[in-house]
Amino acid sequence: MTIDSTEDLFVDGLKHAYYTEQQLVEALDELEQTASSEELKSGFAEHREETQNHVERIEDVFEQLDADAEAETDPVVDGMIEAHEEFMGKDPSNEAIDRFNIAAGQKSEHYEIAVYGNLIPMADQLGMDDVADTLEETLREEQDELDSLSEMGEQFDYGELTVSE
Ligand SMILES: [Fe+2]
Ligand SMILES: [Fe+2]
Repeated sequence: MTIDSTEDLFVDGLKHAYYTEQQLVEALDELEQTASSEELKSGFAEHREETQNHVERIEDVFEQLDADAEAETDPVVDGMIEAHEEFMGKDPSNEAIDRFNIAAGQKSEHYEIAVYGNLIPMADQLGMDDVADTLEETLREEQDELDSLSEMGEQFDYGELTVSE
């Protein structure tokens, strides 16, 4: 398909966002299952619920556009999931997994923030105010999750990961 209009560009981005959010529902489950810290586990579980809503919001947007909800593979999210699998194959300690998972979560939130940060002004440009509002709700949740993960990363207790003298 040729992409030569803002609307085409928006729909193409939306298909990748749809795929990304779907993959992240499963990825967040994996992050929760592999984490040891209760705070981290519940944070991932909570954002997984929100992510399920992100999927549904995108479906609403497709509906508002009178288009079928269609996902298109996004190699960025696939790469992040692969990086987690690779890391888990290195026999990491529980503390190392927790610290890695915080960073993995931060990376996906940064990516999602970039995705929505681009879709929203396109929706505005196209005069789709309701669509922009819907996506802004998601963007706010991604930003909140990033803030909470960043705080956990900054305050992380390295425990046995600390280099011993
Ligand atoms: Fe999301
Ligand atoms: Fe997210």
